[in-house]
Amino acid sequence: MTKTQDLQNIKQQILDNNVCSDLASQATQLVFGSGNPDANIVFVGEAPGKNEDLVGEPFVGKAGHLLDDMLQSVHIDRNQIYITNIVKYRPPKNRDPLPLEKAAFWPYLQKQLAIIKPKLVVTLGRHSMAMFVPQGKISELHGTTQEIIIQDTEQSFKCTLLTLYHPSAAIYRGSVKTALMQDFSTIPSMLAKLN
Ligand code: URA
Repeated sequence: MTKTQDLQNIKQQILDNNVCSDLASQATQLVFGSGNPDANIVFVGEAPGKNEDLVGEPFVGKAGHLLDDMLQSVHIDRNQIYITNIVKYRPPKNRDPLPLEKAAFWPYLQKQLAIIKPKLVVTLGRHSMAMFVPQGKISELHGTTQEIIIQDTEQSFKCTLLTLYHPSAAIYRGSVKTALMQDFSTIPSMLAKLN
């Protein structure tokens, strides 16, 4: 089976297992993830917003445009990478995802990562970071890396985690945007080292 088929199976499992049926019933659709299944980098956001819910793809709204600009600034094409979220349905009124919702989707994110096997996982925002570094503070950890182990039911593999501020936070706070752009600029050299 190809990676694309494996990913499609995980998406189907989420649907078949009625994960977060309450969220699902209020959302337009499941926003599973998009991009290159052979990507060296996977970006992990928080949860779909209004635009993502309508389009069915992560980061296609305002935050997505900023992400696109930052990718362009480091000469990375969106079709080289893979993007997903911790929670895969839009929380009503864009509220923060609940701990139970994040926990419910966590095994599926690990399966997604285990299929793609990126060298670098980049978390966007504190919700995503906290799934990998539960005690971490984004104000202290942004721009730093650490080794993580992705544990799927059948396998585990090591990769590097880079924790970044969320682009949405950068839209409204100039100091966060400066930090995010600075942290983002380290990605190419980091990737070169990992290759
Ligand atoms: N914010 C996120 O965390 N994810 C998206 O897909 C869009 C906005």
